[in-house]
Amino acid sequence: MPVVFLARGNFLFETRLILIKLRSMITTIDVASIRRDFPILRTRVGGRPLVYLDNAATTQKPAAVLSALEKHYKESNANINRGVHYLAERATDAYELARKTVARFLNVARSEEVIFVRGTTEGINLVAQSYALPFLKKGDEILLTTMEHHANIVPWQLVSERNGAKLRIIPITESGELDMEVFESLLGERTKIVSLAHASNTLGTVNPVKELVDKAHAYGAIVLLDGAQAVGHFPVDVQDLDCDFYVFSGHKLFSTTGAGVVYGKYELLQSMPPFQGGGDMIGKVTFEKTTYKEPPARFEAGTPNIGGAVALGAAIDYLSGLDRVVLMEYEHDLLQYATSLLSDIEGLRIYGRASDKVSLISFTLDGIHPHDIATLLDADGIAIRAGHHCTQPLHRHYGLSATTRASFAFYNTREEAEQLAASLEKSKRLFG
Ligand code: ALA
Repeated sequence: MPVVFLARGNFLFETRLILIKLRSMITTIDVASIRRDFPILRTRVGGRPLVYLDNAATTQKPAAVLSALEKHYKESNANINRGVHYLAERATDAYELARKTVARFLNVARSEEVIFVRGTTEGINLVAQSYALPFLKKGDEILLTTMEHHANIVPWQLVSERNGAKLRIIPITESGELDMEVFESLLGERTKIVSLAHASNTLGTVNPVKELVDKAHAYGAIVLLDGAQAVGHFPVDVQDLDCDFYVFSGHKLFSTTGAGVVYGKYELLQSMPPFQGGGDMIGKVTFEKTTYKEPPARFEAGTPNIGGAVALGAAIDYLSGLDRVVLMEYEHDLLQYATSLLSDIEGLRIYGRASDKVSLISFTLDGIHPHDIATLLDADGIAIRAGHHCTQPLHRHYGLSATTRASFAFYNTREEAEQLAASLEKSKRLFG
């Protein structure tokens, strides 16, 4: 027995060692090589290398995305779904291929569930105007959370002012996580929509969306997830989450501005009237009456951002060439490291200590206004964001008007986190 036990113990020990080795191998990515894919990261600011830590505002674009965009305009530019000529067909094919690429990226059931829009803001407005406005009535409730971006507050307010629906707010705990008990107590027969960030742009909190979706569905409510701050950090599977709508912006996924996505379950999309009217979304137009195409065309009036969709497809292809689980681990490690460095700075307070966070840190530093911090860091070549980050109600919750936010992507490094901490220390010494 002891022999067997020992052998078994050794085996377990060996296995653990191998796992630890494997883990350290897989969590080490070749950042230097990844950084070479992003030309802008070679920028120098006042003679110093750029330290780009404003990824939650917008991410940088790899050369593969930039060249796909250029190639599109050089070789395939034409309007889509209209001409029968060579270029029109090439452009239409490229646009529809991008839709399929997004469909695979989100693991949607069918690519017709992917609608191209300008970005997250337009996407949420689409759902608010085409779903909430016609289908909700006075007294119906829309649940949001304290941590929402203005883009996930104002569109619902615009609707509720017109149809009398009521907004109710899920509060957050001290660590910046949703108060699930209150969430459950807010759910009821009147709850028709739950709309929340998959990951918070200010706190970094990754919300337990699968559980939220399940609970909301039990009351017959539909769920929209604002994925703007999620998709760039970890893989998303909309069928697994079972959310009804998922919205994100291409520019936060290493692609260009002006192209984003609404995913919607097909039967919901089919039940919804158009959001905007114009060319290419119609069946037949007479002055008396117009009929509409099936989704997604119904929601893509006018000439879309064809180049933006192509670029988004290229960004997803670029990401597919990397191991996203490894990138996630790497970013997690970076977040831990940066958090520990910043926590050592006297007078620095971090907002958002959720156990599951994307790699961003919002903070205040005693005695220096967030905007002044941003200016001082810029002098050291460090790009961060200061202000309310379009989350005024969340800042009000903390009794603040502004914070400073450093947000990381997989091309950032530990050395950059050290430079951030050193520059903050210096700012504190000089002005704090
Ligand atoms: N929503 C973007 C941010 O959080 C612009 O900075």
